[in-house]
Amino acid sequence: MAETAVLILAAGKGTRLKSQLPKVLHEAGGRTLLGQVMAAAREAGIPAADILVVAGYGLDRMRAAVEPLGSRLVVQEPQLGTGHAVQMAAAALAPYHQVLVLHGDMPLVSAATVRALLERLTQRAAAAVLATATPPQPRAYGRILRQGERVIGIVEDRQCTAEQKQIRELNAGFYAFNTAALLPALERLGTANPHGEFYLTDTVALLAQAGRPVLGYELPDPDECLGINDRAELVQVDALLRRRRAQHWLHNGVTIYYPETVVIDPDVTIGPDTVLEPGVQLLGQTRIGQRCRIRCYSVLQDSRLGDDVLILPHCVVESAELEDAARVGPFTRLREGARIGRGAHLGNFVEVKKSQLGAGVKAGHLAYLGDATIGPQVNIGAGTITCNYDGVHKHRTTIGEQSFIGSNATLVAPLDIGPGAYVAAGSVITENVPGDALGVGRSRQTNKEGWAKRRRGRPAKS
Ligand code: UD1
Ligand code: CA
Repeated sequence: MAETAVLILAAGKGTRLKSQLPKVLHEAGGRTLLGQVMAAAREAGIPAADILVVAGYGLDRMRAAVEPLGSRLVVQEPQLGTGHAVQMAAAALAPYHQVLVLHGDMPLVSAATVRALLERLTQRAAAAVLATATPPQPRAYGRILRQGERVIGIVEDRQCTAEQKQIRELNAGFYAFNTAALLPALERLGTANPHGEFYLTDTVALLAQAGRPVLGYELPDPDECLGINDRAELVQVDALLRRRRAQHWLHNGVTIYYPETVVIDPDVTIGPDTVLEPGVQLLGQTRIGQRCRIRCYSVLQDSRLGDDVLILPHCVVESAELEDAARVGPFTRLREGARIGRGAHLGNFVEVKKSQLGAGVKAGHLAYLGDATIGPQVNIGAGTITCNYDGVHKHRTTIGEQSFIGSNATLVAPLDIGPGAYVAAGSVITENVPGDALGVGRSRQTNKEGWAKRRRGRPAKS
């Protein structure tokens, strides 16, 4: 018998988001809501194959979000309540000893809570353990009915008597069940409630009445069970998750100025003594070394920075790699496959795509370097363009070490410029330039002596 399954209820439509996307596929803190819940389960040691997601709307998108991770989808159509959702998964849950039920729209759930619920369930040989919360402000959640240590029922907000409304201990919506106790209780659920739904919460009273122990686990932070019903709540939870990320890095040697403006995705890593300025976004699988400084409003996605890298303001860096002590910006754009060598300097309005730039390369201003291999210590003048595309195919440019490319050079690929060569400013270079040669590809200048003076001497037209 397999040990533990995690069942994530996510069949609700999320009407109040007014969206074509299923609610749980909206993002907060750099992941989908569903992704956050799945990550908590994985972090608690649950294998992906033992995570099941109940879906009802947008099934194609839901399947695409769940199955590639190795988890399973359970379809609930129509949606007749939380108890009905679990009923739809009953066959899939039967082989497991215990099952943890979470809500797909409550993304703040932590791995610690998952572990705590399961631990208490086994240690106390309980039929169920449910997370409870006692927030300072009332919320329209189910109220916990107790008899001493045991929980004997949950009353939904809508069904509470005036007296029950005063109960401050709430049902968080995270449960651990002993499967053998849960499955028969599920079969006995009815729909005698204002919504006419099968309530998962009614299993608690059924178990208690059968003399099976149901226990509570009080969440240390009542905000952990904040759910998302509209976009205002979505961005609140996003901000909370972002704050936590920033706090994490502040505690791990990273200075973050105005941390409330900085976006750091969950898989990003940052070395100590790195400084992030306001408005910086570090996204995807970005990895940043030590002592880097990322100046304001730069966006880095899926990129890798060595140590001592300086990113000046307003850079966009995507799927790129920068070696130690590289310096780029302001307004530099690095695209997929840009590899910037150690100590290289790139300045404003320089765009690099699928190109390797060797150590110490300088391209200070206004250049496009695409599909190029550029050796160490090459100087790229302002306005240089690699013409890599002929309208049908892409072609490569190679530039040997210590070459000097004059300003406004147009390098028509395929092209090979040898080491130590010069290219004259303003040239259109269509032929290879041998090493140590000067390539000139422009018409020669002629000066017309006295021309301007004669022009001025002409009578003005009336
Ligand atoms: C539920 C609990 C309530 C608890 C609260 C915490 C019940 C009856 N009540 O109420 O005690 O305080 O959560 O947030 O369970 N879902 C399905 N299929 C359905 C219905 C719902 O998958 O047929 C999913 C929803 O997508 C959602 C979750 O179950 O993720 C909770 O459903 P919701 O209707 O929001 O329950 P609450 O009213 O919040
Ligand atoms: Ca809810």
